[in-house]
Amino acid sequence: MALIGKPIDRIDGRLKITGAAKYSAEFKPDNMVYGYPLRSTVANGTVNDFNIEAAERCPGFITFLSYKNAPKLRPIDPAVKTGGTQADFIPPLQENRVNYFGQYIGIVVAETYEQARAAVNLITVSYTQAAPAINLKRELPKGTFPQDTSTGTPAQLNSGKAAPVLAAAPVKFEQVYQTSNENHHPMETHATLALWEGTDRLTLYDSTQAVTSLQRSTAYLFYLKPEQVQVMAYYIGGGFGSKGPQWGHITLAAMAAKVVNRPVKLVLTRQMMQTNTGRRPQSIQTISLGADQAGNLTAIRHHSDSYKNLTTYFENTGSQTEVLYKAPVHEITHRVTSLNVGPPSYMRAPGEEPGTFPLESAVDELAYQLGKDPLAFRVLNHTATEPISKLPFSGDNLLECYAIGAERFGWSRRSLQPRQQRNGRYWVGYGMATATYPALRNSTAIKIQLLADGSAKVMSAVQDIGTGTYTIMAQTAGDALGLPIEKITILIGDSSLPPGAASAGSRLTATITPAVFETGVQLRTQLLDTALADKRSPLSGRKPDEVAFGDGRFFLRDTPSVGDTYVDILRRSNQPMLEVCALSMPASGPGQGPAGSACPQIPYGLEENSNDKKYSFHSFGAQFAEVWVDEDLGTVRVKRFVSVMDIGQLMNEKTIRSQIIGGIIYGIGSALMEKTEYDERYANPVERTLADYHVPVHLDIPAIDVQFIGKPDYHLSPLGARGGGEIGTVGVTAAIANAVFNATGQRIRELPLTPDKLVGFPS
Ligand code: MOS
Repeated sequence: MALIGKPIDRIDGRLKITGAAKYSAEFKPDNMVYGYPLRSTVANGTVNDFNIEAAERCPGFITFLSYKNAPKLRPIDPAVKTGGTQADFIPPLQENRVNYFGQYIGIVVAETYEQARAAVNLITVSYTQAAPAINLKRELPKGTFPQDTSTGTPAQLNSGKAAPVLAAAPVKFEQVYQTSNENHHPMETHATLALWEGTDRLTLYDSTQAVTSLQRSTAYLFYLKPEQVQVMAYYIGGGFGSKGPQWGHITLAAMAAKVVNRPVKLVLTRQMMQTNTGRRPQSIQTISLGADQAGNLTAIRHHSDSYKNLTTYFENTGSQTEVLYKAPVHEITHRVTSLNVGPPSYMRAPGEEPGTFPLESAVDELAYQLGKDPLAFRVLNHTATEPISKLPFSGDNLLECYAIGAERFGWSRRSLQPRQQRNGRYWVGYGMATATYPALRNSTAIKIQLLADGSAKVMSAVQDIGTGTYTIMAQTAGDALGLPIEKITILIGDSSLPPGAASAGSRLTATITPAVFETGVQLRTQLLDTALADKRSPLSGRKPDEVAFGDGRFFLRDTPSVGDTYVDILRRSNQPMLEVCALSMPASGPGQGPAGSACPQIPYGLEENSNDKKYSFHSFGAQFAEVWVDEDLGTVRVKRFVSVMDIGQLMNEKTIRSQIIGGIIYGIGSALMEKTEYDERYANPVERTLADYHVPVHLDIPAIDVQFIGKPDYHLSPLGARGGGEIGTVGVTAAIANAVFNATGQRIRELPLTPDKLVGFPS
């Protein structure tokens, strides 16, 4: 492979640096107006009335929509599947009920953004209020034990099975851990531009992680067919899960554009993103472990308490506990209550990120209790088969991750006892944790055209959320077709293309690259057949296995000067181009779906890895952190970080390294800074902007050493790539908390590890 795996620069990099890449908020059609949402200032109650007199007098005011006059949308039916993210969207303005602070209760449309915002600020609202529920601990007794997680997997596994084993265990451990609410702040805020042509065609420019599923869910809400809705997202400034569901602002923009019959642009503020675009919900998690004297685990119990609101989503914090460590019993349960805060939703490694903190802290604590090195303890309890399904992992390289990481980090220099290493007024500590994340693969359709000039176009309704999808698709197509990367044009980010998968759940690379490859190979094979059958071709009458390919031509393996170019073959066949459209489906072994189907008939969203029940598909990794804790101030600095990832074949060593580094930085934010709290009186978030919702800056980030195992996972696809979007952030918080214990002797079981929890630790 000339291109696959190589650290090639992003092919869209220059467009982004020069500003030529257009993001959703940058489109400006004629006659466009602006929408600005009105948000509730109460968290539980009903809206009685609005006073809009002052707003109506504002210059540029066009209209105000609320539950009283907004278009009626098709009611949500959880049984209807409209895309990748289920019915996790909340159609706004359909009733006067208010469920959380910040909920959209209206929208002003005006000639300019400033006019719309000024008018909204002049509207007064009268409410009937009830006391909001925002305290998780207080509301937990009302919680329920849901049968399934948001993705349909069991939410209660082996309930009650661990208790007798734990009671009989020679070594016992139990602790409670807490994680905080975290909010999404991708660089690019959410933005939607909605345009109607008549009443039966809607176009959305939207910063979405899933053009195909947004097309389908929008069509559903507006009583349209999917082909009547076109969703465009050419460039996206980060998603991380926040841009997956059909959030209310998308629907608001479409409703407003329909009513005023002009294009409407709606761009969210950072304040709106604190309440309206999902969050990682606060959780309280209890880990109970049993072991024998030698340190072999006999039972793992993981119970999680968390909350939801309005949608079915709750955090599947037990996910990694289904996968890690050999033990006769794994009991995993979830209790979920309801709170009057914006609905929790997907946030980078949803489930695993907050769920790995308690599990990997507890493992570290039990190892210390047993007097064992925490890495040796993990190696002792390693499992090569998934504990719940009993299936072998499609790739079992975690022990290698541990070994490489320990070597590069210098783990052998760590002392078992805490508070042994100082540097001036800093206590120095080493910690590590395991990372895991499911390896998903979906069905996706791809169309490839080889054009008369010897260039190729590759098309699919997928999108690049900033992570390199354009580039890896071009690399893959180049290798499949035998073309240099400059000859490949990638057309994505448009739902009118053959239906593609979402950029979510770390699945797109594993989905799109085998699809591009298989389709490219089909096209190349057809082209070669044409040449071999053509009397005018220098390759006429040769066998396919006598022929090699590269740089836009076929040639004889043993006489490379004898060959035929793609341009010549196409020209002689009197075809303007050669086109192949194929569906790629997850399959056992070398995956191959039905090919040559007409693109429009292609289904979408088939079950991940559907044909393969022989393996459990997961990626693994090991995270190592060195921290310095300031004895006087209680501040924690991450000074070094080593990460070793087993995510199968790398498609582009540069973009995937950036992904993992980004995930680790995300984890450092989660470990040390990020937290959204609610004012008990008003149920509004205290942290409302990036001035008070803290995320890491350059000075917070040390050198990060990322290594890869790089062994292809051919059980998942013929290319063997698994996703790398989320696993990089998994385990980072636990590695840091474990390092803080090693530095100070203080075990902090509540995130984030802010100075108030560490200042004045006994010296
Ligand atoms: Mo991811 S949280 O599925 O974008």
